Amino acid sequence: MKGLILSGGKGTRLRPLTVTGAKQLVPVANKPVLFYAIEDLVEAGITDIGIVIGDTGDQIRAAVGDGSQFGARITYIPQEAPLGLAHGVKIAEEFLGRDRFVLFLGDNFIRDGIVPLVEEFRNGQANCQILLYRVPNPEAFGVADVRGNRVIRVVEKPKDPPSDLAIIGIYMFDHNVFDAIRQIRPSARGELEITDTIQVLIDQGFTVVPKIITGWWIDTGKHADMLEANRLILETQEPAMLGTVDDTSQILGRVVIQRGAEIRNSVIRGPAIIGEETQIIDSYVGPFSSIYHHCFIQGSEIEHSIILEHSKIIDVPHRIEESLIGRYVEISRSPIKPRAYKLWLGDFSKVGIL
Ligand code: TTP
Repeated sequence: MKGLILSGGKGTRLRPLTVTGAKQLVPVANKPVLFYAIEDLVEAGITDIGIVIGDTGDQIRAAVGDGSQFGARITYIPQEAPLGLAHGVKIAEEFLGRDRFVLFLGDNFIRDGIVPLVEEFRNGQANCQILLYRVPNPEAFGVADVRGNRVIRVVEKPKDPPSDLAIIGIYMFDHNVFDAIRQIRPSARGELEITDTIQVLIDQGFTVVPKIITGWWIDTGKHADMLEANRLILETQEPAMLGTVDDTSQILGRVVIQRGAEIRNSVIRGPAIIGEETQIIDSYVGPFSSIYHHCFIQGSEIEHSIILEHSKIIDVPHRIEESLIGRYVEISRSPIKPRAYKLWLGDFSKVGIL
């Protein structure tokens, strides 16, 4: 079997981080979201992986490389524009050939991996297998209508949902999917939709099998989901100590201090992770915080937040909470009169002030 990860798209819901960066590279517990998808595929024995890339393709290539760091072989498939999930599959036809494959959206996350699901599909007769997750608000998702061990209908964002089973961003197909895609037309939003494709497979009598997953699933497309994914991953990490901590600092609970990090006169209360070469001085870093590499935190308090690389937070008088802070951001107190907020914010930034 092969793998196909969709890592293009616009990422509008995760602005401003996605104005300059790929959303699939935003770190969760200091590891890009996309890496979890690659690792899930490799764990299931799938090492021949195509990655569909868009405008941020160069960043994805730089981060993933040829895939050898994961024990995988990566083929990059450029998509001229984000024309839909099914379009991403269509342009990968040459790469996928007649192999069965897993389609993985590069911003989706499941706790328990895909090993047994892949095993079943690899050895079974089904033409397609979709993963479903019970949600309280199915009208916001693609939803499956299931009878026994068959999906009999899929509907996108239904007003009157046939079930509470949301279709999540991990699918398995055989080569019949390409003919199905050739039969669909762009939706009202101008995209070739994967739900329409699955409906064509059902209509033509192909076997579409439902798999309801019970461990958590998160689509990290929005800020709150990103923080939630971060929280869940941090809770499962084993403590590690690869940096330096001075005598006046306290490390409590599940904390990972990565290589070259330095903690001085500070309290780090886990679960938390402090990235490579990051300095934490006279500060408090509280539960569910991920501070990425080469950051500088001084005289400040941070909790339940993700801070990306090379950012500086200095002498901020109130605790920073539930925040997602991009790369090379600086937040500091300004000693210069008049006493005022001095903000240099990019497009789509959001600031909550006291
Ligand atoms: P989405 O989250 O559906 O779309 P998006 O990335 O454009 O985000 P937003 O809605 O915030 O603007 O995409 C799911 C995944 O599939 C994500 O990793 C991006 C990727 N994708 C492609 O690679 N090509 C596409 O044409 C589309 C629509 C998405």
